[in-house]
Amino acid sequence: MNSSAPSAAERFSRALLMVPELRDVEAVIRATFNSDVIPMREIPEYLLSLGGKRIRPALTLLCARALGAQTISPMLLDIAAGIELIHMATLMHDDIIDQSPVRRHMPSPYKRYGTPLTLLSGDFLLTRAFGLCAKLDDRVIQETEQACIELVEGEALETPLHTQQHSVETSITIAERKTASLFRLAAFCAAHLTGASAEVIRDMSAFGQSLGVAFQMIDDILDVTSDEQTLGKRPGLDIAERKPSIVNMLWLKSGSSEAQRLLTPPGGTDDPDYVERSLATLKDSDVINEAKLLASSYAERARTSLQTATQHNPATNEQFVMSLQAVIEFALERLR
Ligand code: FPP
Ligand code: MG
Repeated sequence: MNSSAPSAAERFSRALLMVPELRDVEAVIRATFNSDVIPMREIPEYLLSLGGKRIRPALTLLCARALGAQTISPMLLDIAAGIELIHMATLMHDDIIDQSPVRRHMPSPYKRYGTPLTLLSGDFLLTRAFGLCAKLDDRVIQETEQACIELVEGEALETPLHTQQHSVETSITIAERKTASLFRLAAFCAAHLTGASAEVIRDMSAFGQSLGVAFQMIDDILDVTSDEQTLGKRPGLDIAERKPSIVNMLWLKSGSSEAQRLLTPPGGTDDPDYVERSLATLKDSDVINEAKLLASSYAERARTSLQTATQHNPATNEQFVMSLQAVIEFALERLR
């Protein structure tokens, strides 16, 4: 490769710079934290301060600009902020459900503020998000409801492997519901609020959906192949928690005898090195290669849907289409 060509990460950073309105989204998000009950301000502020790629609001703004939005309207700012607030609420609840003590190198909100107040601040943020979405039209309200229902269903389906029969297919269903639903909502709202045709809205939504599945699969792969420094938490949590992650399901499907222990309840003390040993076995394995191929196939689907949507849209702005392609490539580059 030409060494002067920008990496996918650099192209992703440049894509973000093309939507400076992300700062305004952040301001809308912060404005919703107001409450005279201090923890309802402090806990969301803490989670926000842990940082993050803000991929969902970025997607909303980039999709709108790619479809020809000349400016980022207050409606787009509201929905981009609303989607990030929903995401923040799910993270607060998810860390409690997963009993995951660390997020982005720092104590998870529930570790710092306790479970009751963290649960409540998730509820607080979800309600604030609905306040923002409900300012918009019925379609946005309906699609937001649908995405939130899928988030909850996806999380409810994610039971440990010893309690229920899981498969590669159920793992994909979980990824579609718990992660892709919000990506789809972001792309849908952008297309809908930009006045795109029904076909373009459908194809942009499909783009968001496939990109979301790819993102979740990449997260599942990184849980095995990455390190604590990069992940911001211990690797191997999906193995420790016996989750139906795509890697675990492909490992079980491969017929490996070592994988069978995934079917026992989490927290057993008879084989304390299981996670470490599994990580060593899985890194650079065929299972990981297969998971990478599957994630890439969803990224490819995202690319195709983006192309179909933007080709059939009269006001398409190619520069922003390229920035959305950079988002897809950035996701995949995390695997290299
Ligand atoms: C993170 O998965 C979790 C999700 C993407 C969805 C969580 C959904 C809920 C908790 C349902 C509640 C819904 C609402 C609307 C409040 P992960 O554990 O794989 O990711 P992580 O590594 O970031 O923890
Ligand atoms: Mg989690």
